[in-house]
Amino acid sequence: MAFTGAFHGRLFASLAATDRPDYRKPFEPLVPGVHIVPLEDWAVADRMISANRTAAVIVEPVQGEGGVRPLDPEWLGFLRELCDARGAALVFDEVQCGLGRTGTLFAYEQTGVVPDVVTLAKPLGGGLPMGAVLLTEAVAAALKPGDHATTFGGGPLVATVALDVLRTIAEPGFLAAVREKGEALGAALSRLAAVSPKVVAVRGRGLMWGIELVEPAAPYVTAARERGLLVCTAGAQVIRVVPPLVVTREELERAVAILGEVLA
Ligand SMILES: Cc1ncc(COP(=O)(O)O)c(C=O)c1O
Repeated sequence: MAFTGAFHGRLFASLAATDRPDYRKPFEPLVPGVHIVPLEDWAVADRMISANRTAAVIVEPVQGEGGVRPLDPEWLGFLRELCDARGAALVFDEVQCGLGRTGTLFAYEQTGVVPDVVTLAKPLGGGLPMGAVLLTEAVAAALKPGDHATTFGGGPLVATVALDVLRTIAEPGFLAAVREKGEALGAALSRLAAVSPKVVAVRGRGLMWGIELVEPAAPYVTAARERGLLVCTAGAQVIRVVPPLVVTREELERAVAILGEVLA
């Protein structure tokens, strides 16, 4: 089971759990048996997670492509309870929100809910392609070496780089600095929103923020790029601001100033 607004990737199986018709259409029929149900609808989750039929529930603790949406921790806790009661695995896709992005090593640490499986990728290899999946002992017991292998998986070059990324994130003060910079960025974006009639909402955690607009975000992304600021969209009407975790306060101030110009 996956949820509306979800983005789990463009591989064949993860696409079946991704709520993006434009990405899905060219590859249909997709992997069968994946249900995409309404996000944060308690009754639907209760009805749909079945002891006999549900293998796993996959969710991003902070939806990325779906508009930068931190999910309600209570609802995630409810999913945890349902999965425990009905023998389903709870999978947190932290490919985008994990590894320090939200100010803690894993985004789930801020929710109080511990998943059975965590997926990681984007920053893991510091720009080189590397993904990882973390499993509880119980889930890992279902896999044997080779089941989940891939030709270039865990090669020495990317593994060395990934180790360095993890060491950097683990340096004393690194995540605290992400949280401090993130709070400053969130406050500055909220001030921007207060004076811009084009902004509907500002949402985020750590250094992962979304600015929801009343209209398509793409032209603002282009305008920002022309002024030297790289941001992207997250869905049609959200500007996504995901700076490098090593960004400086001064760079963030410049970024907010540029966003102010383009929104004006
Ligand atoms: C939450 C999440 N999961 C998975 C992925 C991986 O996507 P892909 O397989 O298309 O690279 C992404 C990429 O944006 C993502 O944001």
